[in-house]
Amino acid sequence: ELTEFQKNQKRYQDLISTLPHVKGWRPKAPLIGYPKTGSTWLKSLTFTIANRSRFNDPTNPLLKRNPHELIPFIEIEFPLFPHIDVLQDQGNTLFATHMPHDFLPDSVVKSGCKMVYIWRDPKDTFVSFWKFMQKQRSTRGPLNSLEECFDMFCRGISGEGPYLDHVLGYWKAHQENPDKILFLKYENVSADPLPYVKRLAEFMGYRFTAEEEKNGVVEKVVNLCSFETLKNLEVNKGDKERADISSPNVNRAFFRKGKAGDWVNCLTPDMAARMDGLMEEKFKGTGLLE
Ligand code: A3P
Repeated sequence: ELTEFQKNQKRYQDLISTLPHVKGWRPKAPLIGYPKTGSTWLKSLTFTIANRSRFNDPTNPLLKRNPHELIPFIEIEFPLFPHIDVLQDQGNTLFATHMPHDFLPDSVVKSGCKMVYIWRDPKDTFVSFWKFMQKQRSTRGPLNSLEECFDMFCRGISGEGPYLDHVLGYWKAHQENPDKILFLKYENVSADPLPYVKRLAEFMGYRFTAEEEKNGVVEKVVNLCSFETLKNLEVNKGDKERADISSPNVNRAFFRKGKAGDWVNCLTPDMAARMDGLMEEKFKGTGLLE
């Protein structure tokens, strides 16, 4: 007798098998992966902001665990690993997703929950993504070359589907409902984190008090969640992996360079011009390029 979960799994596998297939970034892969736009950073910031009354600096679990262990993905941990501690924790109100806006279930959209979206220059997203996949354990064959994957990425073939449409989908939703969806850009937060972290806290309903600001709490949050701090934590070094579930990625894979504009070391000017052209075409008149 199949369980409810297995029945659903079969239903979706049957449905997926009817969809058109194209080759992925690995020879045997269905399209999988994460948009590399700063989700790990956003997870650490939102976790620290929302839990600052539960933990003080030295007891923050972020110091001992990878940020992905602290905020579950609704499409990964939630259906597949419901037993993990973060999903048993009634105090946790934070969830993550890489799903495009159109794919969000009604239970999320209609819940009235707030959403924070972070996006990034597609050239950096691509490079970050390809480098990440290079480090990933996979039984699906070696990753295709950077050039081949770049061509696929430009044609909208990558994990989570076309990147520019992903951004545009959430941008439109943000414009329709600015009080519910906060839109952040990696490059802007990276250049000057403090005002964005204050804005984020306010948006989430965890505004920093005047006293906290005076006591440097915002700076502490920024420093704790900084690339340098997280990358150098023992838990995110070497071959350490998250303890609660098995993952194809070691913790350190989530921390590579943490810089805006690193694409310049990997893409040719022609590749950059192609991606920029696609972005300009897609985002023209939307306000996203301002
Ligand atoms: P690079 O590969 O360009 O270094 P995601 O978290 O969505 O998977 O995105 C990964 C990207 O965010 C990687 O970019 C990673 O180095 C960077 N990153 C991770 N933690 C960060 C932090 N605390 N601050 C800034 N960037 C961070």
